[in-house]
Amino acid sequence: MATATSYTCGILTVSDKGSRGERQDTSGPCLREILTREGFTVAACHIVPDQVEAIREIMRRWVDEEGIDLVVSTGGTGVSPSDVTPEATRPLLDREIPGIGEAMRQASLLKTPNAMLSRGIAGIRKASLIINLPGSEKAARENIAAVLPTLAHAIYKIKGGMKDCGSTS
Ligand code: MTE
Repeated sequence: MATATSYTCGILTVSDKGSRGERQDTSGPCLREILTREGFTVAACHIVPDQVEAIREIMRRWVDEEGIDLVVSTGGTGVSPSDVTPEATRPLLDREIPGIGEAMRQASLLKTPNAMLSRGIAGIRKASLIINLPGSEKAARENIAAVLPTLAHAIYKIKGGMKDCGSTS
């Protein structure tokens, strides 16, 4: 069975206020704790403002130059004029994985109707997986929980892993 212990991750907090030091980022540290507990090695953490180029450039660098296996962003997925994380992410993806966003929204709708306002997407760039999560600590925690059990298997398959999906060893 694929496990997260073989993989690295990067956690990107997207927040204008956070990037200016006007709001403490609790979502990034929360995701760090969850992903570390799952077995991932956290290779990078960063905060950027809600700007397409800033978001895109760091995601590109983490995947293309640092070979980070899983890039998770938090914030900027909503419907405010400043929310641009999906627009920044989409051109980076070789292939989208709509089911990841669908699963997160489906699980999140059981928590709050506002879940339908997250436009977060997920997909593959090269041999890495990129996922957008919403920005509050609560939303980030609830959304990552919905997909956590499948992340290691997803990355394994993205990298060309050949074991059958149903195999247990
Ligand atoms: N999903 C879960 N599970 N829990 C939440 O509290 N908040 C929603 C939604 N998804 C929420 C959630 C809210 S209020 C918004 S506006 C959107 O995520 C987008 O959040 P973002 O703009 O911070 O990315």
